[in-house]
Amino acid sequence: MSNSVEITDKRTGKSTEMPIISGLLGDPGIDIGKLNKELGLFTYDPGFVSTCSTKSAITFIDGDAGVLLYRGYPIEQLAQHSSFIEVAYLLINGDLPSPAQFREFEHHVTNHTMIHESLKLFMNGFHYNAHPMAMMVGIAGSLAAFYHDSLDPENPEHRMITAIRLIAKIPTLAAACYKHSVGQPYVYPKNDLDYCSRFLDMMFSVPAEPYHVNPIAAKALDLLFILHADHEQNASTSTVRLVGSTGANPIACIAAGIAALWGPAHGGANEAVLKMLNEIGDKSQVARAVARAKDKNDNFRLMGFGHRVYKNFDPRAKIIREMCYKVLNELGIHDPLLEVAMALEDVALKDDYFIERKLYPNVDFYSGIIYKALKIPVEMFTVMFALARTAGWIAHWLEQNGSGDVKIGRPRQIYVGAPSRDYVALADRSGP
Ligand code: ACO
Repeated sequence: MSNSVEITDKRTGKSTEMPIISGLLGDPGIDIGKLNKELGLFTYDPGFVSTCSTKSAITFIDGDAGVLLYRGYPIEQLAQHSSFIEVAYLLINGDLPSPAQFREFEHHVTNHTMIHESLKLFMNGFHYNAHPMAMMVGIAGSLAAFYHDSLDPENPEHRMITAIRLIAKIPTLAAACYKHSVGQPYVYPKNDLDYCSRFLDMMFSVPAEPYHVNPIAAKALDLLFILHADHEQNASTSTVRLVGSTGANPIACIAAGIAALWGPAHGGANEAVLKMLNEIGDKSQVARAVARAKDKNDNFRLMGFGHRVYKNFDPRAKIIREMCYKVLNELGIHDPLLEVAMALEDVALKDDYFIERKLYPNVDFYSGIIYKALKIPVEMFTVMFALARTAGWIAHWLEQNGSGDVKIGRPRQIYVGAPSRDYVALADRSGP
């Protein structure tokens, strides 16, 4: 079988052979690198619907079958048996750790949780009602101004210490953003706690009284973080890689990823879902919301529905759905929003509009309800996503920068503007 495709420009009759590159799983790709040189053509694919931006060995998704693998391990197995810290190790290093490797990694992460005291000055510059994602973009960017001794993307030791620092410090920054917004003192990380308990403690404890982390909450958070840890070349990860391709400061690359995640079409969806469920308010209003989502004259979309890659179901949504009932049950919470969500899911999944377009609930449809049960405020939902996705972003940045072949990402365009024209002096121009 030939391992290439022939591309013919029917206007000129010129042809060229393009090699096909295959991975171990998934559809192969056409290497079109020489297309412009040989046929004078570009490819056009806004939104990267059919375009691979890189080769990667980290995460595999089969959108039709609803499969998600981190380094080959099914998400269902990791969700059941692993922990976020172990998953972070796996994403970064490629294999599950031995017990000694795990202890060492956890020890390093735990010992890098503090942030420089000067960062508090940056935090204090934000108005109390700043959105925590705005603070996260800014404060993660500020972190890039520290650690000059270990920011060389070409140095493997620098790369690894940066990875550990980011996984360790982003929760401290995230909790500080929350504390700032409610006017409470920042809480220092307690290194005798595990990763998620430490984060909850930094979020909710106050100096005035003792605080005990609810282990059910810490466990639920850990599972959510596993599910959100990576998702191959999504918008924010591609942003991290694009910025990384320029040789930029690695922490600045992660700050760029946080900015990309913020949009409601991406990580901002979890916040948007909860706002939408609140607006719908009651099961009786579900049919109206579905009708609005189908109306082409209305911009309203069902937030938490649809995915660029999953066209069958999102395996993470399946896990989160089950977990949602369990967590609410264990915490003894009855949330009417869960009933609205279930009714919405039920109506949408039976509706031809959603069936034809293969629109199913995605990971964020239920995650907000769990975060709400854990008392995480709505504005912090996307920050929670950023915290978990930091593991994936840094794993991709490490893969890219460890490849020894970093090529700057520089897309081309189809120019549709004015043709070449001569400058006219201001005094000689007519017009309104
Ligand atoms: N509600 C109603 N209609 C929708 C929805 C939705 N949530 N999502 C897609 N559609 C419709 C579109 O209107 C379009 O219809 P048409 O073919 O008649 O024009 C069709 O389905 C295809 O939609 P696209 O926008 O072309 O699909 P795309 O792959 O570009 O978008 C996306 C995927 C951004 C996730 C989209 O489904 C969406 O906006 N969903 C809501 C936001 C959301 O939940 N985002 C989280 C994604 S998961 C994550 O980032 C963790």
